[in-house]
Amino acid sequence: MISANTDPKLSSLPEPDAAAREHSAALVAQIQSAITDAGGCISFTEFMHRALYTPGYGYYSGGLQKFGEEGDFTTAPEVSPLFSQSLAVQCAQVLGELGHADVLEAGAGSGIMAATILTELEHLGMLPDRYYILELSGELRQRQRETIERHCPHLLARVEWLDALPLSGFRGVVLGNELIDAMPVQRFVIEDGEVYEQVVSVQEDGLQLISQPADETLTSRVRTLETQLDSPFAEGYESEVNAAGDAWLHSVADMLEAGLVLLVDYGFPRHEFYHPQRNTGTLMCHYRHRGHPDAMILVGLQDITAHVDFTALAEAAVESGLSVAGFTTQAHFLLSMGIEQRVASLDAEQQLKAAQQIKQLVLPSEMGELFKVIALTKGIDGPLQGFTFQDQRSRL
Ligand SMILES: C[S@@+](CC[C@H](N)C(=O)[O-])C[C@H]1O[C@@H](n2cnc3c(N)ncnc32)[C@H](O)[C@@H]1O
Repeated sequence: MISANTDPKLSSLPEPDAAAREHSAALVAQIQSAITDAGGCISFTEFMHRALYTPGYGYYSGGLQKFGEEGDFTTAPEVSPLFSQSLAVQCAQVLGELGHADVLEAGAGSGIMAATILTELEHLGMLPDRYYILELSGELRQRQRETIERHCPHLLARVEWLDALPLSGFRGVVLGNELIDAMPVQRFVIEDGEVYEQVVSVQEDGLQLISQPADETLTSRVRTLETQLDSPFAEGYESEVNAAGDAWLHSVADMLEAGLVLLVDYGFPRHEFYHPQRNTGTLMCHYRHRGHPDAMILVGLQDITAHVDFTALAEAAVESGLSVAGFTTQAHFLLSMGIEQRVASLDAEQQLKAAQQIKQLVLPSEMGELFKVIALTKGIDGPLQGFTFQDQRSRL
């Protein structure tokens, strides 16, 4: 996800219109009432879940534009079809090895990645039996259907929307682009040497973040991190843990009989994620292409995300019986998939446009370095094409 600006001056955020303010006020009222019912506060995790996914009101479950120039942020599949085409070639390698197999995309956004992957797989003669989309938001499902209908109507019959992960017996490829960063995180802060949890309470004119002593589960997780990092967190250090991401991966591993889980997201290996200088964590909100850290404002109107601790994902994968088959930057993955060669077949005008898009996807100052790709496998052999250029598993 890229925002044109990361601006700490909240006063420079555009004003929402009256309808948007009303929409947000209605969601805040619902959250305030949940806080009252809970006895005065809810966890940041619950707040983030409600702010993003309350049916009809949450950021992802309401009718806002979100993706692209008119929305709040731009994701790689929106930047260029070359991104999804590269993923399709990686899918094709695994679908070919498995024989009859499916693709499952979780959190499919506008649906453009699904449409582009299906089109490319058809071109390669490697269409999956089914292309499942797991999507929490009813509004996004509708948008995804429209996108696929517009781009490749003859392939729509292969697409099936799911409410939940299948329980078992899945063979194929599971895809998630910027999925884990949209899962609700827990926030912790070190106060007087102890682990505190940031929770959300009500104040006169809205919601506020306060801290309270963390429960045993969060305390133990933070203390384990300190052991793994070989150093205690400093006084005042704030950050996140993403238990929802780990749990999701456990469920995926249970479901997967054989195949590949390919996740692309922004984040770091653990030592970089919890770097002493990253002492306010990685929480980021996106509103009209401006990034800022205050999740208590524009509730329901802005995206709330946290970066991904890829070491945590790798650990959850191994615990649940998957192998970590590759880890690299988005740039190295796309270059391994031959993104540059794809441009050769285009005409001069298209080549110019594609060159700009490739820059955005691979330059270290754009999405190339911050975004990473992790491959988790079960029951398949052989090196995956996307990691042939550079495999950085030793950084995890
Ligand atoms: C940042 S958007 C990315 C959308 C799209 N993949 C893209 O790259 O444009 C995050 C998406 O993840 C979805 N999502 C979040 N948690 C999910 C979960 N547990 N299962 C399925 N989808 C989820 C959201 O509804 C949203 O569509």
